[in-house]
Amino acid sequence: MTNLNIQLGTLSLPSPVLTGAGPNVRDHKIINKAQECGVGGIVSKTFSLEAAKYPKPAIAKTIGNGLLNCETWSDKSMEECIDDYKKIKRGDSPFIVSIGYSAEDMEKLGPLVERELKPDAIEFSTHYQDQKVEELADVAKALRKSVSIPIWMKISPNHPFLNELIAQSEDVVDAYVAINSLGPALDFDINSKKAMLGSPEGYGWLSGPPILPIALQTVHRIRQLTDKPIIGVGGIETGEDALKFIMAGASAVQICSAAIRRGPSVYKAVADEMQWWLEEHGYSHVHDVKDSFGPR
Ligand SMILES: Cc1cc2nc3c(=O)[nH]c(=O)nc-3n(C[C@H](O)[C@H](O)[C@H](O)COP(=O)(O)O)c2cc1C
Repeated sequence: MTNLNIQLGTLSLPSPVLTGAGPNVRDHKIINKAQECGVGGIVSKTFSLEAAKYPKPAIAKTIGNGLLNCETWSDKSMEECIDDYKKIKRGDSPFIVSIGYSAEDMEKLGPLVERELKPDAIEFSTHYQDQKVEELADVAKALRKSVSIPIWMKISPNHPFLNELIAQSEDVVDAYVAINSLGPALDFDINSKKAMLGSPEGYGWLSGPPILPIALQTVHRIRQLTDKPIIGVGGIETGEDALKFIMAGASAVQICSAAIRRGPSVYKAVADEMQWWLEEHGYSHVHDVKDSFGPR
């Protein structure tokens, strides 16, 4: 039987399919369900020092099974998030807490999260930050100084200076997560001519299958720039989607939109499909196909 156990730096995962940050991991109840169904690792919803205020509706369907969202980070206070995530049943799958956004936020939130939740790693989102390389590198350095556990940097799509960002952060970052949702993006109802999202202009961020090729390219590009582990995320719905990320250089994957649409059983379903494909093609370990993609 093909082995799906993987090592992400110092962390051991029972499968390479993790949750991605979003409403699919908004509280301990839905996370415990994902654990029961079988998941490689849990990444929490992002929270910050202040609760987010976002307009509703914050999620809408768009073309090609894609989603639009204007959900930003958690609308619960950090105290509420910490109290809730304390109720997660910890198992074999590592628990990674997602936080944002500034260097100052990292200095305050990092040690608090490490002490109170004892996660296996911290993922920090760079989504609502100025995308200047120095500023993002400072966020990474601030978090590195504040906690002792591994830290993962989540990259936004189409970062203009990806080479510099990786070069200036890889000394302190343990893994990269790519990509966040893509935008700004717009869709609306042709009959009412009204936006689907409640944001001021109806603008939001695109996720799900329409962004898969962009996420795949970003993972492949990061792989050329660093040997640090990469966690691919963007549009994964099937085992074959997930395997493409591994072939392009990812060590593991995350799923958000497909879990919003299909519920917490999706992580295990995708892992099972990966295993069937690998078995059928004679591979004994999922990482036997890692980095196997090449141009024509
Ligand atoms: C409704 C919604 C909320 C999200 N919230 C967060 C968040 O709090 N933090 C974060 O880093 N990414 C967030 N994301 C981005 C996802 O984690 C993921 O990077 C992106 O949607 C691409 O993966 P997917 O196509 O599997 O959804 C959110 C995405 C959606 C759709």
